[in-house]
Amino acid sequence: MESAPKIGAATGSGSYKKRSSNAELPRRKRGHWACRGPKVETMPSVMRTTSSGPVAPRLVVRGLSKSFGARLAVDGIGFGVAAGEVYGLLGPNGAGKTTSISMIAGILARDSGEITIDGIDIDAGPAARALIGIVPQAITIYLDLTARENLDFWGRMYDLSGATLRTAIDTALDAVSLTNRADDIVGTYSGGMQRRLNLAAGILHQPRLLILDEPTVGVDPQSRSAIFDLVERLRHAGTAILYTTHYMEEAERLCARIGIIDSGHLIVEGTRAELVANLGQDTRIEIGVGRGDSLERAVRIVSALEGVQLATVENDHLHVVADHGANRLPAMLTALLKAGTVADSVRVVEPNLEDVFLSMTGRALRD
Ligand SMILES: Nc1ncnc2c1ncn2[C@@H]1O[C@H](COP(=O)(O)OP(=O)(O)OP(=O)(O)O)[C@@H](O)[C@H]1O
Ligand SMILES: [Mg+2]
Repeated sequence: MESAPKIGAATGSGSYKKRSSNAELPRRKRGHWACRGPKVETMPSVMRTTSSGPVAPRLVVRGLSKSFGARLAVDGIGFGVAAGEVYGLLGPNGAGKTTSISMIAGILARDSGEITIDGIDIDAGPAARALIGIVPQAITIYLDLTARENLDFWGRMYDLSGATLRTAIDTALDAVSLTNRADDIVGTYSGGMQRRLNLAAGILHQPRLLILDEPTVGVDPQSRSAIFDLVERLRHAGTAILYTTHYMEEAERLCARIGIIDSGHLIVEGTRAELVANLGQDTRIEIGVGRGDSLERAVRIVSALEGVQLATVENDHLHVVADHGANRLPAMLTALLKAGTVADSVRVVEPNLEDVFLSMTGRALRD
């Protein structure tokens, strides 16, 4: 497992911090969040209450672990996904997303952990596996067959046949808007069309849980939007959807709840609002200074002020993280002005999941 780059290290030359050790900020933050313990509770938290009482999540994962030799790829993660919910597993390359979902789909043996779908253990046999549809990260369709032939193959794998299979194929092709290309050889498809067909193969048998592993990587905007629409329709129809991504924007847009995974640990989970609220009072501020003023000098001035946690240079702007940041702004601008530096723009930046990840791990999601 690669070691965590230090905070601020990726932000350009003019990075100044008030702390003596670069590693302290994330650790302090970890402490701040650690009211739930070092790992997220392994009891899934999505109990829904109806008139007949609380309803368990459709997918329940507890204590899921997997090592490859000495490398612990997934370390005791647990979460739940309700029917009609999109749950996002958000994490950088190598975080353990594919390993986790492969175990949930039953295509990779786990070292430990429990996985149930509507209370049925996924080890209960083929009928249990049929409750799950998975759309893998790598495209798993035959390029020398047509879309219809591909779906016929996958449908038979799910034990569909005859009129049921034909209807399922038509429905899936329609869902991914490939009906008019159904009899073309898939090798002639664009990358986005191939991804959509990959998705069709995962929904043919109308699974109760659909797992999508980074379904939009490398796709054109039109196909991405078609994939988003389909996810939304399936969610609306009551499918539980587990969606892995390293795109913060996708997690924010599609997922009701998000689990952030890093180095095999589910480090925190919640709605976007909950995750961002956990950041506490720290605010990010972006200050533009006039041409000719030294950004490095501005960083030095601002980083010496009370309440400033981090000051860096990014995209020709001064980026500051400060507790109660907006309140610290007048002091920052005054200090800059006294030193002869005039701020020509100021922006208080809304915190996002990128900030959550940074605060929990000390690294940017895309490092
Ligand atoms: N078959 C394997 N053999 C050995 N190590 C593996 C294997 N599969 C995954 N790993 C390791 O397990 C860790 C988690 O990998 P995984 O593919 O689950 O990450 P990921 O979050 O899906 O990343 P990405 O965003 O790049 O797809 C990585 O360190 C990876 O190198
Ligand atoms: Mg992966």
